[in-house]
Amino acid sequence: MTKKHDVAWLIERARPLTVQDARELQQYGTVARLPIALDAAVCAVSVENLNQLLADTMTLRDLYKKHHWQVSGPTFYQLHLLFDKHFAEQSELVDGIAERIQSLGGVSIAMSHDVAEMTLIPRPPRGRDEVPMQLSRLLHAHEIVLKESRAMARQAAEAGDDGTNDLVVSEVIRTNERQVWFVGEHLVDTPLIAHHGGNREEI
Ligand SMILES: [Fe+2]
Repeated sequence: MTKKHDVAWLIERARPLTVQDARELQQYGTVARLPIALDAAVCAVSVENLNQLLADTMTLRDLYKKHHWQVSGPTFYQLHLLFDKHFAEQSELVDGIAERIQSLGGVSIAMSHDVAEMTLIPRPPRGRDEVPMQLSRLLHAHEIVLKESRAMARQAAEAGDDGTNDLVVSEVIRTNERQVWFVGEHLVDTPLIAHHGGNREEI
């Protein structure tokens, strides 16, 4: 027969350990060597660059969701959908960049507190912007990401980190350039009804 104190011990053992305290497995900023035939110094530089790119990509991703929610005006529907499409594409980039950091042996940032501290993209107001302001804010953020991406891609290629170069060029740069096109075309001042300089009498 099971004794009383044994039952208590068994019940205690079945209880989920909700609060635990232990040292981190790996500190942020360190590189755990993986057998990927790349120098530790090369991995460390790529990890540092990619974490900066990650912070800015997460900010741009969230900027799209903010504008998806807060957009208004006659173009509400198309921009509401476009902003969410770009949000989803930026989310995929976030995952790709973070997993590249981990596969280089680094530690990726993840939480908004760290993103807020690190990002180079200026903080937008909490309130709602008009559409032209939303669009130019997004274009500015894209340009920051593209500028750093090109420099990081070049640095990775020169160091022999082809995987990082490929991710940054094929995915980050190409996606951002395409999104700039889609957003930027909304800021071209084209007429809605009559062509510029049109003269009704002559038609
Ligand atoms: Fe939504």
